[in-house]
Amino acid sequence: MINKNLIDLEALSVDQINKLIRKAKRIMKSPSDYRHACDGKILATLFYEPSTRTQMSFQTAMLKLGGRTIGFDNPMNSSVAKGESLKDTISIVSGYADIIAMRHPVEGTAMAASLYSEVPLINCGDGGHLHPTQTLTDIITLSCEKGRLDHLKIGVCGDLLNGRTVHSLIKTLAKYEGNSFVLISTKELSIPLYIIDILEKNGCPYEISHSLSDAIVDLDMLYMTRIQRERFKSEEDYEAQKYVFVLDREKLDKAREDMIILHPLPRVNEITVDIDDDPRALYFKQAQYGMFGRMALILLLLQDEDFVIESRDFEISPHRCSNPKCVTQSEAYLPNLSYRKLGMQMCDFCDKRID
Ligand code: CP
Repeated sequence: MINKNLIDLEALSVDQINKLIRKAKRIMKSPSDYRHACDGKILATLFYEPSTRTQMSFQTAMLKLGGRTIGFDNPMNSSVAKGESLKDTISIVSGYADIIAMRHPVEGTAMAASLYSEVPLINCGDGGHLHPTQTLTDIITLSCEKGRLDHLKIGVCGDLLNGRTVHSLIKTLAKYEGNSFVLISTKELSIPLYIIDILEKNGCPYEISHSLSDAIVDLDMLYMTRIQRERFKSEEDYEAQKYVFVLDREKLDKAREDMIILHPLPRVNEITVDIDDDPRALYFKQAQYGMFGRMALILLLLQDEDFVIESRDFEISPHRCSNPKCVTQSEAYLPNLSYRKLGMQMCDFCDKRID
C-alpha cells in the first residue's frame, strides 16, 4: 500500500532520503526560487505537546514557500478540551488544510491520526517513540558538515530509552553502509531492544558504554540528548539520572578535532554553555538546517507524484496492544492493527510486541 504520510523515516528508501537531502540543499542554495512554490496551500500544525523548533520551523517553512498556516499549540484551546477524539479532530482539520504536522505525547498517535486524514500527515514526535523530521534535520546536518552519511562512528548519549530522536536517527543511519554506534547511557536509560534488533539485522557494529569520557575519543559524531523528565514515573527517578552525562570542556578535549556535536535541543544541562563557541558544536546550526529539510519535505509530499511512501503490510490482531503508553489504550475505536517481525506480532502504532 502507498501513502503520503511521514510517520517513520524507516518507511523511506535510501534513494528517497537522499532525494529529500538534495532538495533541501537546492532550497538552501537558492531560497527565492521557492518563494511561491506553495501559494494557496495551508499547513495545519497540531501540537498536543510543547515545541519551539519543530512547530516554528514547520510554520516558517510553509511561510517561506508562500503558503499559510493554521493550528494550535495547546490542545486545551481547541475542542480537545471538550473531549473530542483524535479521529474527529483529524477528520475535521484534514478538510481545512492541505497538509498536517502533528506532535502528541502518546506513542503511535501519528500513525493513528493518519488513518483518518485525507491529506498528508507528518509525525512531529509521538511520545517517546519516533521523531522523523528531527532525523531529517540531523542527517542534512551530517551530509552538509561531514560530507557523507556512511562509514561514520556515531556516539549517542543520554536518555536512550525515552529519546525518540535517537530511535529515529539510529534506524535511519543503520540503512547506510559502514556505520557503527556507541550507545552511551545508564543501565536504566538504555536503548530499547527493538533498536538493538534493527542494528543486528542491518549488521551494524555497536558498543554499549557507561562512560562519555572513554567513548568520546574516536567518534565522528557525538549526539547528545536531554534526559526526558516528562517521561519519568517520579521526580526522584529523574533526579537520579539528570547529571550523569554532561559534556564539558574537559571531556571535549579528549575528542578528535573533526568530531561534530549535535543535539536535537532543547538543552537542559547536558552540554555546558562554554562549549557553544567550539567549532565542533553545531547544534544551533543544526536547527537551521531543519527548516530547509521541512521545506523540502512539504514540497515532495505535496507536489512530487513519484514521492510515495510504502506502508508495511498489516493485519488485525485478536489482541489489543498492552503497552500502557500506546494510543490504542486511549482511543478505544482504533482497530488492533499489527504486523509480523521475526515471527513476532508487533503493534502497528507503537512498534511494541503484542503478546
Ligand atoms: N528538537 C525538537 O523537537 O525541539 P522542539 O521540542 O523544540 O520542537
